[in-house]
Amino acid sequence: MEIVNSENLYYPDRKFAEDANVTGYSPEMDYQMFWEKEAGKLHWFKKWNEGRPLSGDAPFFKWFENGKINASFNCIDRHLDGWKRNKAALIFEGEPGDRQVMTYHDLYREVTRFSNVLKKMGIKKGDVVTIYLPMIPEAVIAMLACSRIGAPHSVVFGGFSSNALADRINDSNSKLVVTVDGYWRRGKVIPAKTNVDKAVDSCECVENLLVVKRTGHHIFMEQDRDHWYHELMDWASIGCEPEPMNAEDILFLLYTSGTTGKPKGIVHSTGGYLTGTATTHRNVFDIKDTDVYWCTADIGWITGHSYIVYGPLLNGSTILIYEGSPDYPEKDRFWEIIESYGVTVLYTAPTAIRLFMKWGKEYVEKHDISSLRLLGTVGEPINPDVWRWYHETVGHGRCPIVDTWWQTETGSIMISPLPGVTPTKPGSATIPLPGIIADIVDENGVSVSKGGHGYLVVKNPWPSMLRGIHGDMERYVDVYWSEFDNMYFTGDGAVRDEHGYFWITGRVDDVINIAGHRIGSAEVESAVIGSEMVVEAAAVDISDDIKGQALTIFAVLKESVEASSEVEQILMESVMSDIGKFAKPEKIYFIRDLPKTRSGKIMRRVLRDIAEGREPGDLSTLVDRAAVDELLREQQLVKTAG
Ligand code: WT7
Repeated sequence: MEIVNSENLYYPDRKFAEDANVTGYSPEMDYQMFWEKEAGKLHWFKKWNEGRPLSGDAPFFKWFENGKINASFNCIDRHLDGWKRNKAALIFEGEPGDRQVMTYHDLYREVTRFSNVLKKMGIKKGDVVTIYLPMIPEAVIAMLACSRIGAPHSVVFGGFSSNALADRINDSNSKLVVTVDGYWRRGKVIPAKTNVDKAVDSCECVENLLVVKRTGHHIFMEQDRDHWYHELMDWASIGCEPEPMNAEDILFLLYTSGTTGKPKGIVHSTGGYLTGTATTHRNVFDIKDTDVYWCTADIGWITGHSYIVYGPLLNGSTILIYEGSPDYPEKDRFWEIIESYGVTVLYTAPTAIRLFMKWGKEYVEKHDISSLRLLGTVGEPINPDVWRWYHETVGHGRCPIVDTWWQTETGSIMISPLPGVTPTKPGSATIPLPGIIADIVDENGVSVSKGGHGYLVVKNPWPSMLRGIHGDMERYVDVYWSEFDNMYFTGDGAVRDEHGYFWITGRVDDVINIAGHRIGSAEVESAVIGSEMVVEAAAVDISDDIKGQALTIFAVLKESVEASSEVEQILMESVMSDIGKFAKPEKIYFIRDLPKTRSGKIMRRVLRDIAEGREPGDLSTLVDRAAVDELLREQQLVKTAG
């Protein structure tokens, strides 16, 4: 990894710094006091136990106990009294070029009507609603309508297959799924409803489907079970009292991958989560009333939850939502959108920036994107050269870049520069935000010194932290709180440089980050083994120019199965049908034996070295060298290109 020296620091522009929402760090403030002050900026129906924002026994922390609050009220109603009533809350651009603008008042009308539809469907406080929608305004409306009546939502990313959707519906015991007929991707209809039909065949809990009409192509509607969204909305009345929720009540579940085959339903609270997302959105993006803010993530991931929906709407911002692909009809679509709406803040992923870099700067330069004033990245480490390209070509050397480190579990940004305050270094997320005490420690939990490498941990509870794993509190304690005493373990490795800056080096567990999408190696392995052709498999990430990491599988076939490209195809299909097309492996290697340690742990590092064409490093813990030597002799490694 390239760690730049101090000459390569990028200092904030004076004018930007003068106008910034945050003008400095105030280290004298205690983190609990800091968060208590921030929580006070939201609207509470009833205040928490003042002076005591944090309670509960570690690691079952509670924030703002006894406070009463509603997410949808804070995102919408609070802005209706003043001029923001008529401000654009949401700008939508569909892939075919259709446009829609909704003011905060429009959003109020749509959300309250949909809340009434949910009630009519029998949804009550505490019932989980699964949302399987693409990037259309109804996704935002559905989330806020759920939160208005106290029904936790579980948004499932549209790229997940019907099997993955079914698992998530069943685990959350949803009786209602909100979905769409289809949506546009590169000019073609993606038939989402067909996926849902397949999924709910194996979900006994589901009673109703609500279907948004987007593409208008013919779909199957099951009588009594399936209902058109627009028909029910036509009927529904405007206005719905927001449910006063306890601060600790669940706002939503969001499934993410862990180190076992079973995805984790991450539980987020209401009061703490709203406090964390509102604060960080205001501070990190330096958000102003005049901004047009565009986060390009999908609503199905935590970034979409925290920084498309909750954070920005809590702050009364104008959000932009784009349905489709960045290369449709041409590779300049993003820049065209930025020009046409005057986007001022752009938040995207390194994998997207690498793609834009590959396509060439001529696509960027075709458009006047001088409205941009701040750029952000998230999801994976950004290579310094990619950072510089983003800075020069997109930011014209003028926009601060915020490289934001956080996770589904943390709920909001934890490590990031404060624009206008923190000097940046390309490739480093810099230092923890106010209210967060993060550290890098060795295996014994001792802080590493400058220049040291270790595990990234958080040493204090923070309001938007996860409250658990749905239905599995043991796993919650085990995964996050057992590695080190009194510290939250992130699963990431990091280096501390000479200035104390954090450089995130990636996952140290068996979680794979492909193009910023999180997949567990165990999920991929169980999909391959599920084909019944494979005895054993190991999924590893290998470096990839665009995706950051690509997925490679090493599979040991059953004796009766002959390695062939057909078999490889079947295994790939199996992964795509269990998880989704976005998890398609790059390559599958067929091998005789997996390299293992004495305790039977697969040595993924060795496999990674081999797949990336390197001599494997230290093999002293390997049980059977012959297996690896065999692997290395290329002719014995029956490799079929993906
Ligand atoms: C993992 C969390 C929350 C954002 C979307 C991904 C990696 C995230 C950065 C960054 C280096 C990053 C970490 C983390 N990651 N942001 N700025 N620099 N790595 O959420 O799916 O929960 O994945 O993404 O490895 O643990 P997620």
